[in-house]
Amino acid sequence: MKRLSIAVLPGDGIGPEVIAQAVRVLEAVGERFDLCFEFARYPIGAAGVALANDPLPAVTRNAVVHSDAVLLGAVGDPALDGAPRELRPETGLLALRKLLKVYANLRPVAMRPALLAASPLKADRLHGVDLLVVRELTGGLYYGEPRGRNGTTAVNTLVYTTAEIERVARVAFAAARDRKRLVTSVDKANVLEVSQLWRETVTKIARDYPDVRLEHAYVDTAAMRLVAEPASLDVVLTENMFGDILSDEAAVLAGSLGLLPSASLGPGPGLFEPVHGSAPPLAGRDVANPIGAIATVALLLRHGLRLAEAADAVDAAIAAALDAGARTRDIALPGEPSIGTAEMGDRIVEHVFSGAVEGLA
Ligand code: NAD
Ligand code: IPM
Ligand code: MN
Repeated sequence: MKRLSIAVLPGDGIGPEVIAQAVRVLEAVGERFDLCFEFARYPIGAAGVALANDPLPAVTRNAVVHSDAVLLGAVGDPALDGAPRELRPETGLLALRKLLKVYANLRPVAMRPALLAASPLKADRLHGVDLLVVRELTGGLYYGEPRGRNGTTAVNTLVYTTAEIERVARVAFAAARDRKRLVTSVDKANVLEVSQLWRETVTKIARDYPDVRLEHAYVDTAAMRLVAEPASLDVVLTENMFGDILSDEAAVLAGSLGLLPSASLGPGPGLFEPVHGSAPPLAGRDVANPIGAIATVALLLRHGLRLAEAADAVDAAIAAALDAGARTRDIALPGEPSIGTAEMGDRIVEHVFSGAVEGLA
């Protein structure tokens, strides 16, 4: 049996708690589908700083590039908020993305019928919501040079090359082909030079995908449309920082940031992490929602290991647990009982196995 090596980077805050449940689900999937996963844990973020004074220690860097897939919790620790940039947990995450060259970040947002009431939006806006944010992940403001501080002046630089725009645009158009065949490219081309290049380049790439409709939207209007008429969107293609902001906004549609998964893809092993952060106030209290991390496992199986059937089983188990009424605090309605992080993991694991039994029937 082929061994599948998974580098597990639990990280900080609620990261270790949600990743513990995600790993349990992967183990259950391994048992059900006869797969041999090998898990090895490595430090990142504040955990890396504590251990090796480095938010992406060498041991982690060496391991991830030789793995079949990387599963990450979250990084971030308020104790390091004032630390120099090279010691910030977030610096470790950005370095990891760059090391793995994972330029395309897929952030799917679908309405789960059981959770319609968990969203603050009116139900009539939510019907038919099923969108995919394709966020460029290794360029833009996060990485541009020069950057830094000079007395009372601070600088960050927004840079994109045609090649960087082309490759992520191709991911978006290819994804649209398996969906509703609409790409909404989000930019600020009425102001920014970089956005003008973005728009021209995406328009050029669209010619290779004549069966996919392309529309352009300014980021301010797109932010409004995301909550005003979210069902009108399919694939939302955008640059690094716009994608960061719009994907958290999109989490409101689903009901909680704790539900959203992501897959970051490039030429080598993929990086799989929930969209949420380390949520320091929730850490260590068994209240965080592990579904974002568990749905991330489904993306790891689907895109990282090409195991679609196993991925479907995880998605079905999440849906079954929610349909049966399992709610963590963030998605429970007022007065509705809620369960903890570990118990939500239990419920989903049970459904991974009961799904196998139903499959036989
Ligand atoms: P956050 O995502 O940690 O939390 C935002 C809000 O969502 C909070 O109200 C939190 O309670 C809630 N939330 C998040 N995850 C949840 C879950 N699984 N279940 C229930 N509720 C959940 O964002 P923040 O508070 O702005 O940032 C905290 C730290 O996390 C910062 O250091 C930030 O840099 C870092 N961060 C890391 C990542 C990552 O590692 N990928 C992503 C975002 C933020
Ligand atoms: C995310 C986070 C990160 C980002 C931070 C922690 C660097 O917000 O993954 O969405 O902005 O990419
Ligand atoms: Mn973010």
